[in-house]
Amino acid sequence: MILVTGGTGYIGSHTCVELLKNGYEVVIIDNLSNSNNDVVDRIKKITNKDLKFYFGDVSDKELLRRIFTENKIDAVIHFAGYKAVGESVKLPLKYYDNNLYSTICLCEVMKEFSCKKIVFSSSATVYGIPKTLPIKEDEALSTTNPYGTTKLMIEQILKDLYVSDNEFSIAVLRYFNPIGADKSGLIGENPNGIPNNLMPYIVKVALNKLEILSVFGSDYDTPDGTGVRDYIHVVDLARGHIKAIEHVMKQTGIDYYNLGTGVGYSVLDIIKTFEKVNNVKVNYKIVDRRPGDIASSYADVTKSYKELGFKTIYTLEDMCKDAYNFAIKNDI
Ligand code: NAD
Ligand code: UFG
Repeated sequence: MILVTGGTGYIGSHTCVELLKNGYEVVIIDNLSNSNNDVVDRIKKITNKDLKFYFGDVSDKELLRRIFTENKIDAVIHFAGYKAVGESVKLPLKYYDNNLYSTICLCEVMKEFSCKKIVFSSSATVYGIPKTLPIKEDEALSTTNPYGTTKLMIEQILKDLYVSDNEFSIAVLRYFNPIGADKSGLIGENPNGIPNNLMPYIVKVALNKLEILSVFGSDYDTPDGTGVRDYIHVVDLARGHIKAIEHVMKQTGIDYYNLGTGVGYSVLDIIKTFEKVNNVKVNYKIVDRRPGDIASSYADVTKSYKELGFKTIYTLEDMCKDAYNFAIKNDI
């Protein structure tokens, strides 16, 4: 049985679907600070399987103890946390408090119950401004905002935890840019307010809910001058978690894995592909660079392929189609 913190969120919900499809039993804890509890029913509908949902905060140790007492948890996938880069610059304490404290509480209770297998959601943001591309897991680490620093600090906490107790088995997954949605259109990404990220913004422009997309910079050292990222279909990302769970079940240690496709696409590539596969127009204008953005970020996926056997199967066309399908079906 797998405990999924933040399981009603964007990546968590897709991972719960993959876990259930692969025969795992699932327990979710989520405080619904950035998600909706109808997601639980939607996961059940997609998979035709049952799961348990606990409403509450991961920093509530009494609730965690109750969950571990009422369920035989074999491993934890820890998604819960805040993730908005811009907000983290304005409200750093909110980010350090939620992301770090909840992780510490979770690890303490896991230790109490001798549950020592954890998969953690880290981010490619821990590579800061990468020196080499594609980015390997042993690239130097640094961050440019408090959100990224929480990820780096949690990676350090987990490393220290493993050093203190070699029975732990920890997989740190560094996600590149997840986009897209489950084919059913029942779950997907629905950020509050005006989106910060590229794909949710494109979707709203395509649906005439926002007027025009600002492309942040066309003078980067990239093939067409716009920023290049490693976009990965969220269902592929979710599949990566199954591989990571299989890995932590087999051995002890702490391992770090990139989850991406290994291929970089520019902002203009994304716009063009989205327009083509969905037969819609995405109005855009080139504006200044967004402060803090880097030119290019894409993964070296050799290690996750060799050690986890992880390989993506979905294309950029799938990502664009599925993101739009979710938006249309849910009137986003
Ligand atoms: P999300 O906001 O959709 O999901 C996070 C979930 O955690 C939400 O349902 C929220 O309600 C819940 N939550 C937050 N704090 C909590 C707490 N203290 N107790 C209980 N529940 C809590 O985000 P997501 O995109 O699904 O991201 C999941 C994880 O992956 C996050 O840790 C995020 O930092 C990381 N990540 C995301 C991306 C991305 O681009 N989406 C990239 C790299 C890493
Ligand atoms: N972009 C635009 N216009 C927009 C939004 C984005 O041109 O309105 C561009 C950006 O400049 C960048 C690319 O689209 O070149 C992707 O931007 P996103 O905001 O979608 O994603 P980022 O790569 O900036 O950051 C994301 C997450 C971070 C995470 C990082 C690495 O937001 O939390 O991926 O995983 F750390």
